[in-house]
This record gives sequence, C-alpha cells and structure tokens, in this order.
Amino acid sequence: MMPERLAAYLAESGRAVDAALERCLPAPGGPARRLADAMRYSVFAGGKRLRPALVLLASDLCHGARELALPPACAIELVHTYSLIHDDLPAMDDDDLRRGRPSCHKAFGEATAILAGDALLTLAFDVLAQPPCEQRAAALVAELARGAGVGGMLAGQQADMDLAGEEATAERVEFIHRHKTAALMATALRLGARAADAAEETVARLGRFGELLGVAFQIADDALDVECTSEQLGKTPGKDVTGGKITYPAVFGLAESRRRASALVEQALAELAPFGPPADLLRDLAHYVVARKR
Ligand code: IPE
Ligand code: IPE
Ligand code: MG
Ligand code: MG
Ligand code: MG
Repeated sequence: MMPERLAAYLAESGRAVDAALERCLPAPGGPARRLADAMRYSVFAGGKRLRPALVLLASDLCHGARELALPPACAIELVHTYSLIHDDLPAMDDDDLRRGRPSCHKAFGEATAILAGDALLTLAFDVLAQPPCEQRAAALVAELARGAGVGGMLAGQQADMDLAGEEATAERVEFIHRHKTAALMATALRLGARAADAAEETVARLGRFGELLGVAFQIADDALDVECTSEQLGKTPGKDVTGGKITYPAVFGLAESRRRASALVEQALAELAPFGPPADLLRDLAHYVVARKR
C-alpha cells in the first residue's frame, strides 16, 4: 500500500527528526524531572511523524537545506504532540490510550499532562527562534502561531467540543476539520517552503495542497475510528460516536466519507501539477493518507 520510495523516505526522515527532537527536548532528570519525563514520554511514543515529513518534503521540493528544515519539522511535531496530550484530557476527549500506550495524563496525572502540553508548545517557538533559523524566525513563528492558534487548530478544537451532540451538518464538519487538523497540515508545508526561501506563490500553493490533504487526513481518522481495533489504531476506537462528535461518517456515512476523502486527494494533487516529477513523494504521501490503516 505504501510505495517503497515513500517508506524509505519516511524511515530516513523519521530518524533525522527523532535525532533533532532528542537534541531540543530537555534531558531526563534535572530540576523539572517529572515534566521533562512527560514531554519525552509523549514525543517518543511512536507517532507516524507525518507532519515533520511534510516540512522536509516541501523544503526538498524547493531546494532547501535539510539543516534549515529540521527545526520547523521538530516544531510542528512538538505542537502536534502537545495537541494530542490536551485532546486526550478528561475535559476534552477523555482518551486513555494514545500511540499504543497510556495517554500522558494516565501515566503522569492531569496536572503534569497539562504542563507537558504547555511546555511542548512553548519549546516549539523557542526552536524556531534559535540558530540556524534565527534569520527567518519571525516568518516561521508567525506561520506556526497562525496554524496552531485561535484562527487555526484551536478554533477547530473549540468547535469540535461545542458542537458535540448537536446536529451533524456538512458545513459544521467542514469547519471543524479545516481548522482542527488541516490548518496544521497546511502549516507544515508552508514552513518547509519558507525554510527554503521559496516564492510566496509556492508557499501558498503548497499550503493549499496541505489544507486539502489535511481534511482528507481527518476524514480517514474519522473512518478509522469506526473501522479499527485499538491494537491497530494505538488509540481507543469508537470515541467519536460515544462523544457525539460531528464527523464525516456522522454526516455522510462511511462509504461517501471515503469517496469524499479520495476526491480531496485528487484536488490536492492538482495543486502539485506545476512541480512535475520532483513532487512524486508528496503525491505518494497524499495517496497514503487515505489508504493508511492507523
Ligand atoms: C492524530 O494524528 C490526530 C489527528 C489530527 C487526527 P496522527 O494520526 O498523525 O497521529 P500520530 O502522530 O501518528 O500519533
Ligand atoms: C484531533 O482530532 C485533532 C487535534 C487537534 C488533536 P481527534 O480528536 O479526532 O484526534 P484523535 O482521534 O484523538 O487522534
Ligand atoms: Mg478531539
Ligand atoms: Mg481525540
Ligand atoms: Mg479521531
């Protein structure tokens, strides 16, 4: 299901990102030992590392240097991991399983999980402000703040909770998915392009690709929540129905949701047309996002 060339790229980029994350996370022990342990527990729990791969792929496509793309790749994974820790809290989705192990609050308690999320979010911006990114820091920080903040992911998370139990409509699910998931995916692509000093037009085009891909990604997440076991997923299935969440399957049913996800991938691929063969790995990844089993 995943082409060999994409599997090889993800394996290699995953190792590079893990090594870079290792360098920016606090060392185990030290004065804030419990907080550092909780941050490391959630970051090194076996996530797919798709968002950092999108940063690196966008940078590669724009002929950027790997050294300049790794900090934004780490920053996006730190923000993503924070969002998962907070998403799992009892006050939000109340999920006990994440990345195949007890959620951060189950392992460390709620107070430490809240602080670990806060610390990962804060660290993400620190990473962007440090060498070797300091010359582009303002642009990179602004991108990440917009994607993760009240105009992006957090607007989606708020709507996801506020609208739980309400009527599931196409307009509502579109808003939720564009914000809670697609905003950060678009940010990953835009960060990679910016790290490579790409033209504004290219940043925007890759951002549009990321947004369409992000909605398709969240539709697949909704479908997997219905279709999979906890062993396959590494998280508790059936949570969306239990929580009364507005999802694509709730609005359109499973088959039509899958059809719409594929149509969004086709739209996303159309944005890559001007890049030609050098964008083939991004094309592979777009197909993988809806074919994945976890
Ligand atoms: C899960 O994202 C959260 C969503 C936005 C659906 P991933 O499926 O990328 O989670 P990890 O990083 O692999 O754990
Ligand atoms: C999560 O959506 C989006 C985030 C911003 C974390 P979900 O609540 O569906 O993600 P999972 O299924 O718990 O990973
Ligand atoms: Mg949620
Ligand atoms: Mg959740
Ligand atoms: Mg989900």
